[in-house]
Amino acid sequence: MTDTNIDTEIGIDTGTGAETDQRTSETDPADGSVSIADPDIGSDAIQRVQSVLESGMLADGPEVRAFEESFAAYCGADRAVATSNGTTALHTALEAVGLEEGDAVITSPFSFVASANAIRLAGGKPVFADIDPETYTLDPADVERILAKREDIAGLVPVHLYGLAADMDSLCAIADDHDLFVVEDACQAHGAAIDGDRVGALGDAACFSFYPTKNMTTGEGGMVTTNRDDVADRAASFVNHGRDVGDGGSYEHVALGHNYRLTSLAAAIGRAQLERLPEFNRARRTHAAYYDDQLDSLPLETPTEPAGYRHVYHQYTVRTENREALAATLDDHNVDTGVYYETPIHQQPAYETVSTAAATLPNAERAAKTVLSLPVHPTLSERDRRTVVEAVRDHYSQ
Ligand SMILES: Cc1ncc(COP(=O)(O)O)c(C=O)c1O
Repeated sequence: MTDTNIDTEIGIDTGTGAETDQRTSETDPADGSVSIADPDIGSDAIQRVQSVLESGMLADGPEVRAFEESFAAYCGADRAVATSNGTTALHTALEAVGLEEGDAVITSPFSFVASANAIRLAGGKPVFADIDPETYTLDPADVERILAKREDIAGLVPVHLYGLAADMDSLCAIADDHDLFVVEDACQAHGAAIDGDRVGALGDAACFSFYPTKNMTTGEGGMVTTNRDDVADRAASFVNHGRDVGDGGSYEHVALGHNYRLTSLAAAIGRAQLERLPEFNRARRTHAAYYDDQLDSLPLETPTEPAGYRHVYHQYTVRTENREALAATLDDHNVDTGVYYETPIHQQPAYETVSTAAATLPNAERAAKTVLSLPVHPTLSERDRRTVVEAVRDHYSQ
């Protein structure tokens, strides 16, 4: 596993820089159970929320602008627009890059349903290309196969699944050739990078979620990042009922929009969480390196981190033919697991009427039957990690 240690590059306090687990077993629950997620909020966030409460500016305001600025800087993007969650970030970004009613957009079938729902909410038609079986992200060759057959594709929504960036070099080159927009679904990938460049500024726009299980949280919350001023201006207007962004606050509405605004309370949590994101991601990578090492000799597939990529392990996902039995053994050891996702989007009941849903997508369908995520959140103690490894070993020794 490589680590370009880019968390130190942008002036955010990153602690010691050492990828060691500083936590002790004192943080473990008394019953020894190991949860799949455990948001770590901290006293700094609580103090910041208290300040916002005392200020009386609870909705949109300077706290949200400050969060947008620091998040854009973290991603290496010029601009950011905060939203109420990751789904509304995707909807906003798709409107902002100019998706028009009926436009077809290629995305991954192996994702949370929001990736495709947002395309439909914006008036577009999701078209599913298969995933790469090793990385679980959109396969550029399958995207090309679709583009060779169809002329109605307007854009791509690659998903950086489990904390690993999609193959953006290939996908952006394809997008350039075919004049497509690219909206990154980075909802699971805060801080992931390719060759030192963080996700968030690799396409026309990128979208993040701050749901509590994510690498950083605001409770509910989201963000659109972009290097394009036109996209940022349209996004800022769209989240605020199409208000004229240049009007200094008057009720002049120049386009249709929503109320997708983030609250200042959420932004206060977000600013504190962003300062700790490098520490959180280092902890996730430390746990992942431990699992890679300890599970190496067992008959299951551990995650891939391609050369030059920085995986931030939103999930540590193994693959095995006997997933249900492995999950049951882990459950016997009080270790939580998760399956993300049991049903690929094209096979969801809500997608029966989507015309392209009849496609066969063998890699996505196979992944949906075999993946199992193990606890990898930052607050895991060394004892928790050992419990997880011992439970997996116990399963294969039976
Ligand atoms: C890949 C992906 N896209 C979009 C979303 C939507 O984010 P939210 O739940 O904040 O609306 C999520 C959240 O789970 C996600 O994992």
